Amino acid sequence: MKPLLVLGIETSCDETAAAVLRLSDDGPVVLSDIVLGQAAAHAPFGGVVPEIAARAHVEGLDAVLGAAMREARVGFADLDGVAATAGPGLIGGVMVGLLAGKAIALAHGKPLIAVNHLEGHALSPRLAEKPPAFPYLLLLVSGGHCQFVAVLDVGVYRRLGTTIDDALGEAYDKLAKLLGLGFPGGPLVERCAAEGDPARFALPRPLLHRDGCDFSFAGLKTACVREVERLGSLTLQDRADLCAGFQAAVLDVLADRTRNAMMMFDPFWGAKGRLVAAGGVAANLAIRGRLEALAEERGYDFVAPPLKWCTDNAAMIALAGAERLSRGFSDDLSVPARPRWPLDEAAAASRPSHKPGRKGAKA
Ligand code: KG4
Ligand code: ZN
Repeated sequence: MKPLLVLGIETSCDETAAAVLRLSDDGPVVLSDIVLGQAAAHAPFGGVVPEIAARAHVEGLDAVLGAAMREARVGFADLDGVAATAGPGLIGGVMVGLLAGKAIALAHGKPLIAVNHLEGHALSPRLAEKPPAFPYLLLLVSGGHCQFVAVLDVGVYRRLGTTIDDALGEAYDKLAKLLGLGFPGGPLVERCAAEGDPARFALPRPLLHRDGCDFSFAGLKTACVREVERLGSLTLQDRADLCAGFQAAVLDVLADRTRNAMMMFDPFWGAKGRLVAAGGVAANLAIRGRLEALAEERGYDFVAPPLKWCTDNAAMIALAGAERLSRGFSDDLSVPARPRWPLDEAAAASRPSHKPGRKGAKA
């Protein structure tokens, strides 16, 4: 194939990001990768405030784009396409990035690729040193999503299971808020858990040993709230033990659900299975370790992207854009920003197999 040079733009949550990537027969090369986080602006609220996020994208995107182009040492005229996240996500932010992408595409006569943020995460493991071939079993765990997806090819995704209430990153963030640890909660809970006793609190493992590979985390979160109410005031050790107990429950649930997902996915293979983890929560080393051990036990290969490409970034958006462009896909400038945009539209139209529940904010 002719090498493709693509600019990626990501603004769907609380990271303003731009990246330039070259895709050729030798695979993708990331030429620049700029991420401007907004954690400090959202920290006082213990979560992402959509209005603050949208304004921060407006203020930060121009400089982020300039830095990405400079670092890659390319001009807009050199690009083969402009890829921007068009959803799902916080709509104000998505509109900022998508509109910027449309403007660049229009001004420089380049094709626009409207990328599904989840497709970015789904393909992000292909930025790893040893990229997985298709098909692979993807565990996508982020702040807004928690699902198993059979990734059969670029653009061909089958959702096998999903959460019936909270996303896993959301559960981590809520626990951190409950314990007053700060925001974003995932890395703080992970660090705190390393100091704690996972056996002190008997916390539930929702859906353990049940059929299928759906998830539920609301009961685990409620059990943590009950323990905090029972304790009254919390010592550092109480906090560490709760984090350790929570993470131990999460690991048990993930291993159990992943085992079932592997069995559901087996019909998709001919050869050796590949388990892939992506999304912000896949940056958790305890989770990566547990999944890797399970993969080894089942004779699967395990791949996760480097930590910086687990959380939101534009390199994965540029990659998804370049992959689509190489297959002849691009979008009209009238393409809308979508707050909701499932990867597998057919599966999203049917309910998860257990019980209906609230989906994550970005589902
Ligand atoms: O993929 P991402 O950056 O944004 C979404 O698309 O949602 O994921 C952010 C989520 C947050 O909930 C954050 O707390 C969680 O990923 N996260 C982690 C870790 N690092 C980030 N959760 C657990 N352990 C971590 N080390
Ligand atoms: Zn994300």
